[in-house]
Amino acid sequence: MSEFKYKSSQLHIEGVAISTISKSIPTPFYVYSATMIENNFLSLQSRLSDLNHLICFAVKANSNQAVLRTLAALGSGADVVSLGELKRALHAGVPPHKVVFSGVGKKAHEIEYALEQGILQFNVESVAELHNINKVAIKCNKSANIAIRINPDVAVDTHAKITTGTAENKFGIGYEQALDTFVLADNLPAITVQGIHVHIGSQITDVTPFKAAFKRVADLYKQLNALGIDIKVLDLGGGLGICYDPENDSLPDMAEYRQIIEDELSEFNCQYIVEPGRSLTADTGCLVSEVIYDKLGTDRNFLIVDAAMNDFARPSLYDAYHRISPVLESTKPNKKYDIVGPVCESGDTFAVARELPELESGDLVVIQDCGAYGAVMSGTYNTRPLIAEVMVKNDAFAVIRKRQNLDDLINLDQIPNWLAS
Ligand code: LLP
Repeated sequence: MSEFKYKSSQLHIEGVAISTISKSIPTPFYVYSATMIENNFLSLQSRLSDLNHLICFAVKANSNQAVLRTLAALGSGADVVSLGELKRALHAGVPPHKVVFSGVGKKAHEIEYALEQGILQFNVESVAELHNINKVAIKCNKSANIAIRINPDVAVDTHAKITTGTAENKFGIGYEQALDTFVLADNLPAITVQGIHVHIGSQITDVTPFKAAFKRVADLYKQLNALGIDIKVLDLGGGLGICYDPENDSLPDMAEYRQIIEDELSEFNCQYIVEPGRSLTADTGCLVSEVIYDKLGTDRNFLIVDAAMNDFARPSLYDAYHRISPVLESTKPNKKYDIVGPVCESGDTFAVARELPELESGDLVVIQDCGAYGAVMSGTYNTRPLIAEVMVKNDAFAVIRKRQNLDDLINLDQIPNWLAS
């Protein structure tokens, strides 16, 4: 259930009016509902109840430690893809034995740190990586628990830039090579094979492709079993979508998703890992921005807001649709606006020809469903500092990431001595 609601014409997140937050925190900023994060987690957990499962939140979706801690307190593990994400997850209180380490390019120092911490498993994506993990583990006098990510060559209906499970993607080991790779792994001295990993893409709203992918996992399990290779963990990846556009999107059918897992995989008595990112946090956060100028033309009306593509990249990167709403409920007539940021690129556009009640300088708007792949994908293009993140719980709010100080950003540059005056 959404915690974003108008009360007395003011958009609230839980018990706090967004306009109250903006009195002490300059726009733009991200704000998340802690209660929604908790509810999303608990609802997935109850969906999977009675299945031996572990939810490992995909930290790449939202790596703020307050978010990670909120999830860890409910028992979540973490799916990390870098040393930085691993450290954040551990600092936030995720126990190492609930951490899986994915990603195609793990470097030796990252592998070493993860091994020392005693993580649950490495999700291996290539033969070269397998040899490297084995080498590092020998050096550390440890054995590395691994799953091998297979590429099931299953297409899903999502944006081309976020599909991952087809043969032309860089992810996983081709299905035809999977068996040989498992046999190789099983023979490496410092590798303990424990799982099969699959992840087919993101923002999946029709769950049927999971069936084809899990069928391949089941086939492989049987072949490995026949060879005496003992698989205990099936890591089913993430990918469940959310409804960004109520007029066009549907939500994934979670009962069907669970049924697919049961139908295809339950005979094996393995532990299931799932790695949801977007479905746990996307709808829990929004980006609050102030209208700097309106610019009314004969052809187009522009609203120039103080958030930009560097703060929130999804619309410019994927042409992603995000609902945009005024913070103050208004009875003014609607106008069609292109909502754009101040960055010097035409792609710095959040919405085109969007109907909103008339707005002017100083009005606040929220861009919705920014709680996943929002703040984490921001940058400092046009020398714009990273913006603040805020969390609301009931009637309280707190800054969970300070806005980056402009001087700190500028002072990262160094002038070589041949240029020093
Ligand atoms: N596991 C693996 C191995 C992944 O690569 C991903 C996402 C996830 C789990 C989590 O997927 P989710 O449940 O969030 O769909 N920046 C893009 C999304 C990129 C997803 C990358 N991998 C976007 O803003 O749509």
